[in-house]
Amino acid sequence: MTLQTTAPPFIQLHHEDRAALRAELVAGLQATPAHISPKFLYDALGSRLFDAITELPEYYPTRTEAAIFQQHGADMAQVVPGGSILLDLGAGSCVKAARLFPVLRPAAYVAIDISVDYLRDTLQQLQQQHPALAMLGVGMDFSSRFALGAEVADWLADGPAAQAPRVVFYPGSSIGNFDPVEALALLRQAHAVCRSGGAGGGLLIGVDRVKPRAVLEPAYDDALGVTGAFNRNLLLNVNRVLGADFAPAAWRHVGLFNEEASRIEMHLEASAQQTVCWPGGQRVFAAGERLHTESSYKWQPDHFEALLRNAGFGEARHWSDAQGWFSVFWAPA
Ligand code: AVJ
Repeated sequence: MTLQTTAPPFIQLHHEDRAALRAELVAGLQATPAHISPKFLYDALGSRLFDAITELPEYYPTRTEAAIFQQHGADMAQVVPGGSILLDLGAGSCVKAARLFPVLRPAAYVAIDISVDYLRDTLQQLQQQHPALAMLGVGMDFSSRFALGAEVADWLADGPAAQAPRVVFYPGSSIGNFDPVEALALLRQAHAVCRSGGAGGGLLIGVDRVKPRAVLEPAYDDALGVTGAFNRNLLLNVNRVLGADFAPAAWRHVGLFNEEASRIEMHLEASAQQTVCWPGGQRVFAAGERLHTESSYKWQPDHFEALLRNAGFGEARHWSDAQGWFSVFWAPA
């Protein structure tokens, strides 16, 4: 057993391109209807507001998923291979994966997130607690394309777990931010990553399910207004990135379930006519006009199973809570 006494290594595969971000924002602001990508929800304050959302009584996904892992973890360990390379997509604070270490006993842990800065501290602390586990931090925007790349592949090939099965871990129902076509593309890429390792690899993924509007809508429009603050904070972030002059107080939070499309939609609605300016452009918003900020797709288990099949995975199985609100799928590669 090799003890990892030094800080875990990091590989930065993604560099934020300010010009590209600005161009993306302007294109969305000029479109009809206007839209801004949900990735702009997660600046430093936005990430804290999201953490607060997960504590709200109405926001069931985080605690429901945690309970499923708690209750069925031993069962999962029967089918998810031990001694694997655990690849954590959107690792963030790494807490969800760390809770699984005792159950899944991985040989190596690869934490992947768009922000390496956030990963650095958590991964260093995690390494102290698990000195025998080889760890790697990877800065990558896997939402546009998920592939390990030569540097990560080399690190894996040189490590003790070169031939180990690869388990991709994607919790939190983050897959819900992708429409079905984009989700299929990401799952196909995940499948290719799982297949690139030893036999027995696969995908362990948390998926939020279709349920009554009376449960879904309050989860995205809570009584304390935290989700509204989270949504409006996106405007502050856009002001910073683009140099725009959005007045957050002039926008109303909307969180609604679009049943036909099987998705929660978050919008910001202009409470009065207003002009928003940024360097080189502007847009007039009419009273009541909406700006789309996020979609969160909800899946029926059989539809998600079909999606996994379509992405190349073998027969999946899943575990749920008693109310059938959330599912964790294991899909063998
Ligand atoms: C982080 C994408 C899983 O869709 O439930 C929470 C984000 N948006 N409240 C979700 C979110 C509003 C969340 N995901």
